[in-house]
Amino acid sequence: MASQFKRTLVTAALPYANGPVHIGHLAGCYLPADIYVRYLRSIGHDVKFICGSDEHGVPITIKAKKENTTPQAVVDKYHKIMGDAFNEFGISFDIYSRTSSKVHSQTASDFFKKLYDKNSFTEQITEQYFDESAQQFLADRYIVGTCPKCANPNAYGDQCEKCGSSLNATDLIDPKSTLSGSKPVLKKTKNWFLPLDKLQPKIKDYLEKHKDWKTNVYGQCKSWLDSGDGLQPRAMTRDLDWGVPVPVEGAEGKVLYVWFDAPIGYISATKELLPETWESYWKSEESRLIHFIGKDNIVFHCIIFPAMLMEHGEFILADNVPANEFLNLEGDKISTSRNWAVWLHEYLLEFKDKQDVLRYSLCANAPEAKDNDFTWKDFQTKNNSELADILGNFINRVVVLTNKNYNGIVPEVSEYTKTDLLVLDEIAKTPGKISAALEKFKFREALSEMMNLARVGNKYLAEQEPWKVIKTDEKRVRTIMNVALQISANLAIVCEPFIPFTSKRLFSMLNMPQLKWNSSKNTNNIAAGHKISADNIILFAKIDDDEIAKQLEKLQKSKEANIIEKQVEPVKTETTFDDFSKMDIRVATITAAEAVPKTDKLLKLTLDTGIDTRTVVSGIAAYYKPENIIGQKVIMLANLAPRKIKGIESQGMILMAENVKGELSFVSPTKNQIENGAGVK
Ligand code: 2FM
Ligand code: ZN
Repeated sequence: MASQFKRTLVTAALPYANGPVHIGHLAGCYLPADIYVRYLRSIGHDVKFICGSDEHGVPITIKAKKENTTPQAVVDKYHKIMGDAFNEFGISFDIYSRTSSKVHSQTASDFFKKLYDKNSFTEQITEQYFDESAQQFLADRYIVGTCPKCANPNAYGDQCEKCGSSLNATDLIDPKSTLSGSKPVLKKTKNWFLPLDKLQPKIKDYLEKHKDWKTNVYGQCKSWLDSGDGLQPRAMTRDLDWGVPVPVEGAEGKVLYVWFDAPIGYISATKELLPETWESYWKSEESRLIHFIGKDNIVFHCIIFPAMLMEHGEFILADNVPANEFLNLEGDKISTSRNWAVWLHEYLLEFKDKQDVLRYSLCANAPEAKDNDFTWKDFQTKNNSELADILGNFINRVVVLTNKNYNGIVPEVSEYTKTDLLVLDEIAKTPGKISAALEKFKFREALSEMMNLARVGNKYLAEQEPWKVIKTDEKRVRTIMNVALQISANLAIVCEPFIPFTSKRLFSMLNMPQLKWNSSKNTNNIAAGHKISADNIILFAKIDDDEIAKQLEKLQKSKEANIIEKQVEPVKTETTFDDFSKMDIRVATITAAEAVPKTDKLLKLTLDTGIDTRTVVSGIAAYYKPENIIGQKVIMLANLAPRKIKGIESQGMILMAENVKGELSFVSPTKNQIENGAGVK
């Protein structure tokens, strides 16, 4: 485990700088990484915790387009928002860097160049979609078209979000560029590929040595290797204008693939943090590298990045990649675009100073082995029935009784009973149980061992009843309170990785300096005669039903907003003004109307078009009665080729507004001076 190594470098996936941080990010990777790092620091291990913003790639350029600004402005904005949110939740990175930094582009560039010079890459000419009017190659996300599997007209070049199929841009029927709306053309382009097919045996060896990885991680890697034809060469450069320029001749207008540059960000951030000694973390077999990530990043961290590192040859490979599965919210996938999320900055506005409550409930529910659900009700229960009723209640009783009976002075032990000794034994064993779980990345188990110690304390007080015994045997109460105070001090130590803000408050309530993990096996950390603080702080206030109802209402609003949005048809593909001008659209008035016999839907209308009198058959009978629409001004398409409907020649078409339920309404000019025959342009 950690102790075999001299030092550990812990990385947490560099999040794309294209939006604020939500609970899914926290639970998936940053919180477990932080707990692990805090634990290692506490045991005195040499550890560095590395993260930063992933500022390249198509997600950034898409966001810039959406916000009508530049990619640089997008990353500047979100880098700050994200860094602040992590900081406020106590995610204790040693550095939160960014991939738009100079040191990063130099490091990524040098890395590529080294592989290029070693002939690690193969050059391949492929056909990529190119937008002739925008004069640029199109990343998959910039191409939409009809999904060949489900006929969704808005599928992306890499994926159809309706049926979930993963696609190639060339699979799309009727592809369109989202930059200009035009039909893209296939154009030849040269890119540099990492021959993962040739590297497969080496990657396989590497993975075989890590059968100890979490089952979800090892299993996913195995299925990549074993699937179909195995690993395929992957382009490490892209025809894009946002990213690290490809540092070789003949690569003008190309940048490094974001998944080539981003993991190198771990190296450049370490360099930035430790300009003199960074190599000892990356180039020594005595160093251990651990990547904390979400499950969507597994292939990049377990196959592609290791393959890059193997080719480079100077760096160590990850010793473990403890990836989590996904966290859902109230039974539904967290989604930024649907605003189905709990944003950290918003949480803090509503639950001020309750960072630890979220940390606790996310850790208790961490999606360690399978996707898991965050519910506000469960959050409330975790706070009220665990943090407040168990941990908070225990500490409160200890502090109040010590202040009341002993003026805040820790009383001395006279004689331990059998029960006392069992409790002391429990205190001494707890840190070992927590460590064992943490070393295996079992954070839920570790957290519950921590909480068990508070349970032991509560049970001890409930059974020993010092508030009663004080009346008959004051000497016995001294021992009871001493034991209870020892539990409190040890809780302050072992809760630190999970709920660091609370740990700090606990130490301050006990009026002690912060103790490290090594002390947590001692059962005499708080000496007789020591004076604790007189403040009686409530560690965890209860969260009432109204506060939870407010959060649920907020989510309900997002849901409704989405339903409304979904009810609107997506915009159709672009048309030209010339095509539009071919349509003769004008104002007319209904002068007569009658039902078409033997149909429910159709009305036969007579229209005064300002130029002539027409008959039009219209499917509006379900919405309008003939007698109510005489005199109604309408908009009609006057040059539609006549067609026979139920034996009547229809000489045009009335334009109607129609919602997704198929309900119809006339559209009509709102001013009287717009007379029959007036054109609509
Ligand atoms: O999935 C993501 O958010 C990526 N930006 C993660 C990158 S991790 C690493 F390679 F830097
Ligand atoms: Zn589809």
